[in-house]
Amino acid sequence: MAGETAEHLTVFNMNSLKNSNLQAKRVLVRCDFNVPIKNGKVLDDFKIQRTLETISFLKKAGAKIILTSHLGSPLKTERKKQRLKEFSLKPVQKKLQDLLKEKIRFSKRCIKRKAKKEIKRLKNGQILILENLRFEKGEKENNEKFAKELAKLGDVYINEAFSTCHRNHASIVFLPKLLPHFVGLNFEKEIEVLSRISQNPKHPLVVIIGGIKIASKIGVIKKFLEVCDHLLLGGKIVNNILTVKGISIGKPWPEEKVVEIIKKINLTDPKVHLPIDVLVSPDISGEVYVRNTGPGSVRKDEGIFDIGIETINTFSEIIKQAQTIFWSGPLGVFENEKFEKGTQEIAKIIGESKDAFTVAGGGDTVRALKKFNLLDNFSFVSTGGSAMLAFLTGEKLPGIEALR
Ligand code: 3PG
Repeated sequence: MAGETAEHLTVFNMNSLKNSNLQAKRVLVRCDFNVPIKNGKVLDDFKIQRTLETISFLKKAGAKIILTSHLGSPLKTERKKQRLKEFSLKPVQKKLQDLLKEKIRFSKRCIKRKAKKEIKRLKNGQILILENLRFEKGEKENNEKFAKELAKLGDVYINEAFSTCHRNHASIVFLPKLLPHFVGLNFEKEIEVLSRISQNPKHPLVVIIGGIKIASKIGVIKKFLEVCDHLLLGGKIVNNILTVKGISIGKPWPEEKVVEIIKKINLTDPKVHLPIDVLVSPDISGEVYVRNTGPGSVRKDEGIFDIGIETINTFSEIIKQAQTIFWSGPLGVFENEKFEKGTQEIAKIIGESKDAFTVAGGGDTVRALKKFNLLDNFSFVSTGGSAMLAFLTGEKLPGIEALR
């Protein structure tokens, strides 16, 4: 795997961290700590966990480790006090301390005097986390002055935020122009694995697309129809397709932009598999009633909230034949146990496909895998949502271009 990884980096013309000498260097690591937080506690540390390999590599290398990240979009909140409370990276500092069982320093500002003072105190192998980059408007604006302030804090830059590399922001795009730069170990792995899916998959390649964000999935659907053997569809995407194509009269009617996209999907392509049955209910709670029916028999006051049992069986048979499986997006409202079965069963079957190379990704998919305790049953789970889909559809990602 290591050899393949290096080969992929050569293709992308990026510097592997494994070839670096970082002893006593101030290393600025751009992470993606954009994680759900409630009452000062990190609710899901999946993305944080995936930075640990790079952090431990840097500790062994004797670097001064300066972690940076964004969290949400704080400048949309007008009141400063509330902004600081909701969008501070302090809870991430606490989480990292628990995970690494060591003190992590914290700077209340990500640039200027406060940050410089904290960095001066850092000994080799010690870790500091800077406050949310998006507290400064220069981050989202990809502002040169802000990037230069950040550059003053480090000798070397590492991008370990694959899931943010679709953003044209200062710490992703401008900063690597100003400092010698490397690719983080998880970032490297993401590129290697996703390239294996998009460029050279073993066939049969089965792709399962669900979830709610049809606009961001449609490019993937088109791209995968060129290379996959089977495309299985579920989730809200399917509701929208069935409604627009006149197969089902369920609700709601999607927004116009989505309608236009759906009209372009060719449902007669034998690779496309829509559900043959679905779980419907008058509302998402499923409390009035839930019934299993054909997509053509959905009543106008009902919504589709999961795939049905026949569909689970049909999809499972297709999945069992696969050599490569890519999955993005839950197949139903898995948060409600009345509608979790489709997502859970399909995740289980993929996880049991031990001879196949299995990859999943996207925030909701990761949440579903965690809920069903199946995260470790996949060959790889990507930290990326939009970035992963953009990469797979061959889009040029600003964060990758900047590291070339
Ligand atoms: C993500 O969580 O998908 C990334 O951190 C990007 O976050 P953003 O959509 O707020 O830019």
